[in-house]
Amino acid sequence: MDHFLYRDGVLHAEDVPVADIAAAVGTPFYVYSTATLLRHFRLFDEALEGMDHLVCYAMKAASNQAILKTLGDAGAGMDVVSGGEYRRARAAGIPGERIVFSGVGKTADEIRTALEGGIRQFNVESEPEMEVLSAVALSLGKVAPITIRVNPDVDAKTHAKIATGKSENKFGIPIARARAVYSHAASLAGIEVIGIDVHIGSQLTDLAPFEAAYQKVADLTEQLRADGHTIRRLDLGGGLGIPYERTNAAPPLPTDYGAMVKRTLGHLNCEIEIEPGRLIAGNAGLMVSKVIYVKSGEGRDFLILDGAMNDLIRPAMYDAYHDIIPVIEPEAGAEQQPYDVVGPVCESGDTFAKQRMLPKLAADDLVAFRSAGAYGAVMSSEYNSRPLIPEVLVKGDQFAVIRRRPTFDEMINRDTIPEWV
Ligand code: LLP
Repeated sequence: MDHFLYRDGVLHAEDVPVADIAAAVGTPFYVYSTATLLRHFRLFDEALEGMDHLVCYAMKAASNQAILKTLGDAGAGMDVVSGGEYRRARAAGIPGERIVFSGVGKTADEIRTALEGGIRQFNVESEPEMEVLSAVALSLGKVAPITIRVNPDVDAKTHAKIATGKSENKFGIPIARARAVYSHAASLAGIEVIGIDVHIGSQLTDLAPFEAAYQKVADLTEQLRADGHTIRRLDLGGGLGIPYERTNAAPPLPTDYGAMVKRTLGHLNCEIEIEPGRLIAGNAGLMVSKVIYVKSGEGRDFLILDGAMNDLIRPAMYDAYHDIIPVIEPEAGAEQQPYDVVGPVCESGDTFAKQRMLPKLAADDLVAFRSAGAYGAVMSSEYNSRPLIPEVLVKGDQFAVIRRRPTFDEMINRDTIPEWV
């Protein structure tokens, strides 16, 4: 459920007409709903009630500081994967003890930044990383709390580019080698092992792969404890999918997920962390765009928008489906026709949808891409020298620009031309 509904014939973001935002900031833009963000965070928080837990929002999904502060003020922690994300989370007021640091290639500099600034734990992904982490921590006179990310060799049954839990993926250490790696970790003075981390992929629409992975984590917890290690925290990653196509069967709800976590891991008395990104932000955001031209091609009509693949890359990159709806509500029973919905970028890949049934649209009409809150703005680029598009946050009847559109000069003047050119 989200808070983007038609009212009086106009799409609203909570109590704000989307057309009003377009008039104020221009198109294209992203708009997020505070109520939806908070609702999704609380669903997870409540689903784990009864277990000691922390929901660490995977901020890679949507990392604007206004979003981070909204979630942080509600009690969320953050999962960060770079020094930049760590700094952004801290700038948004998230305390270090609520930040977990994931990622397969943390540099010594990034590790130092997090150790100096304060960190809940590092999710370590390899033995070389463990050695560097221990050395950096010792150089600062600290001991770094860690979990080790295990790769459970489970098929997440999702798009190949976002599956992470098979042995051929670059993530984590093979679960079969876990006992040896934990014993190596125990020998390093700058780190303290406190738990296990696992994350098998994103946009999972079935609980079975999660359950298979968590069962392996449960078994490993018992083995490692028998080996004498302290395992008191389990980080279960993110990955629960969202319904992109409203016609499809909906993925499991956070409550079903929470019940499964309790069933597979509850008896271990560990503190639980989860790292949802998409489920918190995905349906809390729209990308709004304007029709520039309607062009009649050979046997098809193209809807040419002012938004493009550089603004929302998911369709080009993952063949992702996003619902596209007109901002002005079509009359009941209005005639529909198929359109190829495209952007102005000079690539055929700049296609959002082919032969999508939509009501008849004309130049200057506004359309909204639903489910664009996660991995939308954060993955955008300036390809074709198109400035990054603004982000807007709505709360009730208020809205504010939370990242403004840069001017052309700001974009262009980042280049420098050496005098010898
Ligand atoms: N934790 C770790 C260690 C991760 O790598 C990820 C996502 C998450 C948590 C959050 O997963 P989520 O709950 O959002 O599924 N750009 C792609 C998705 C990439 C996901 C990368 N890792 C897309 O647009 O579909």
